[in-house]
Amino acid sequence: MLSMEKAADWAVDSQARAEGVAACFRERFASEPKLWARAPGRVDLMGSHTDYNLGFVLTLPISRDTWIAARRRDDGIVRVHSMNLDAADEFRLDGIDSISESRWCNYVRGVAATMQDEGLALTGCDAMIHSTVPLESGLSSSAALECALATVFAGLGGWSLTPERKALLCQKAENEFVGVKCGILDQYSSCLGREGCALLLDCRDLSTRAVRMAEGIRVVVCNTMSQRRLSGGEYAQRRSECEQGTAVLGVSALRDVTPEILAARRHELPERAARRCEFIVAESARAESLARVLAAGDRPAVARLCAESFVGARDLYEICSPAMAAMMDAMLAAPGVIGARQAGAGFGGCMVALVDAARTDAFRAAVLDAYYSATQVRPEIYPVEAAPGAELFDKEEITK
Ligand code: GLA
Repeated sequence: MLSMEKAADWAVDSQARAEGVAACFRERFASEPKLWARAPGRVDLMGSHTDYNLGFVLTLPISRDTWIAARRRDDGIVRVHSMNLDAADEFRLDGIDSISESRWCNYVRGVAATMQDEGLALTGCDAMIHSTVPLESGLSSSAALECALATVFAGLGGWSLTPERKALLCQKAENEFVGVKCGILDQYSSCLGREGCALLLDCRDLSTRAVRMAEGIRVVVCNTMSQRRLSGGEYAQRRSECEQGTAVLGVSALRDVTPEILAARRHELPERAARRCEFIVAESARAESLARVLAAGDRPAVARLCAESFVGARDLYEICSPAMAAMMDAMLAAPGVIGARQAGAGFGGCMVALVDAARTDAFRAAVLDAYYSATQVRPEIYPVEAAPGAELFDKEEITK
């Protein structure tokens, strides 16, 4: 298992990370890795749970990412090792089963099985995996793993996939092989990132628009360190409550519902479904608005939209936990904060703040103190940059 200190250092020191991953590869597989791939995690800046309602999300593929160092094998066997979990898996490409005890192995197996089902010819490999995306914290560590792995298989085969196709394949692996009914947000973010930009993703036609944030605004992820254990069942429940809404309103997705339609027909909906729908309709509109005001640097509007999003997530969609409320207080009281809200599926995990870049250090120190005083839990704070989507990279460029 990687020590906490080393994991934190490697998030900022790519050279040490590349050497460390290569050394582990050598130790484990007694050879040199030949191919390197990386894929980013993501934080959503606006648009909680809008993806499976075919609405808009403003997402940021982040500089915390998953690396895979690999080498081709010609015997149809895949051997993988996760440095973060200090765990390994091995399977044959000609008979891939899922295994019940280990979720991460199923992400790996699922990507391989799904790519083969789509007629892509895979070769076996040895692969060493290392991630700086905190696991199970709402920053899409699983999508980063899937998308990095799909990039490895394509790279070893000498062919490439469009980012869109890669994202859809990985989502399919997660939906069908792993059995998690996620939307398209995580995989699209991990595959379609553009350096320096957030992405406004239209989850209906799957188009993306790059959004360059105004100068001087920094995205800071604040990890409550609280478990998201509830999110599995609660996530499925939110989806079905939204489907209840679409059935009553006679539309195929909440994307088709405007605030005016909802106001006029709200009384037809069961109370809880009405609240869920109200949140989604407003949240999708906020994603488009935030894209506009972030590009323009309109800080008061950023603050207002983020505050509305959090209140809706708390009172209408009910995905906030006490730890998230404590983190929201800590973020809003910290110097330099422009806006703050939930991130990911909610129910704990990470949250996100937009911060005056010059005051990032002061913001970080204040949130560490305030959240610890309120909860007796030490949070982790990660200032992040916008990162490019899943790609192969040249290790020599990093270590020279
Ligand atoms: C999880 C899912 C995504 C999305 C978010 C909530 O991260 O994997 O598809 O639904 O929750 O916005």
